[in-house]
Amino acid sequence: MKKFLIVPSILSANFCYLGREIKTMIRAGCNLIHFDVMDNHYVPNLTMGPILLKSIKENKIPALFDVHLMASPVDSLIPLFFDLNVKFITIHPESTIHLDKTIRLIKNIGCRVGIALNPATSLHYLDYIINDLDLILIMTVNPGFGGQVFLSYILKKIQHVRYLINKNKKNIILSVDGGINLSNIVSIIQSGADYLVIGSTIFHSKDYLKTIQDLKNIVI
Ligand code: DX5
Ligand code: ZN
Repeated sequence: MKKFLIVPSILSANFCYLGREIKTMIRAGCNLIHFDVMDNHYVPNLTMGPILLKSIKENKIPALFDVHLMASPVDSLIPLFFDLNVKFITIHPESTIHLDKTIRLIKNIGCRVGIALNPATSLHYLDYIINDLDLILIMTVNPGFGGQVFLSYILKKIQHVRYLINKNKKNIILSVDGGINLSNIVSIIQSGADYLVIGSTIFHSKDYLKTIQDLKNIVI
């Protein structure tokens, strides 16, 4: 079976004990953490921002972050994530007027660039930007909330993106976000995913470490 990485989404974590929750993920071997920023404009929900990452850094929690920006306008937010242990910043193409410029802003602060494609967003967005990308995030739910049902018809889209990445001979990471659980993880990996963003399946379980191990084992 293909190599893959589980990237826990802390949107579903217990925010009263966020530091402890992240440390548990690191203990489970997951030191890349998905961080959902929602603005109640691009999506109908309001979550967290860079101030939280600053606090995590100051408390020396050795995590790296995969920041998923669901915000519009988005450009003014990007510089706020500078020097906060952020590895990837992923944006939605519909959230900005000048996509190329937004991509440059992410590169300028030394982060890797991701593009998130909603269930109904066309792959044509990739035509002119694929060479600038480090990651493509395929949404398997409509963005806005954790705990939604996985849209299985998106498996075909994942396969198509895998084909495009291979054809392009680029080392772009194919990430999948939304509704991933023990029943669908195998089909997602078989469709070509590298990173699996998983929120409620981990954080709504009783034993996080066991759940992460179960998710890994089921694939072998
Ligand atoms: C949804 C977010 C996801 C969410 C995934 O808009 O982008 O990252 O946290 O959570 P689950 O795994 O519960 O669908
Ligand atoms: Zn996300």
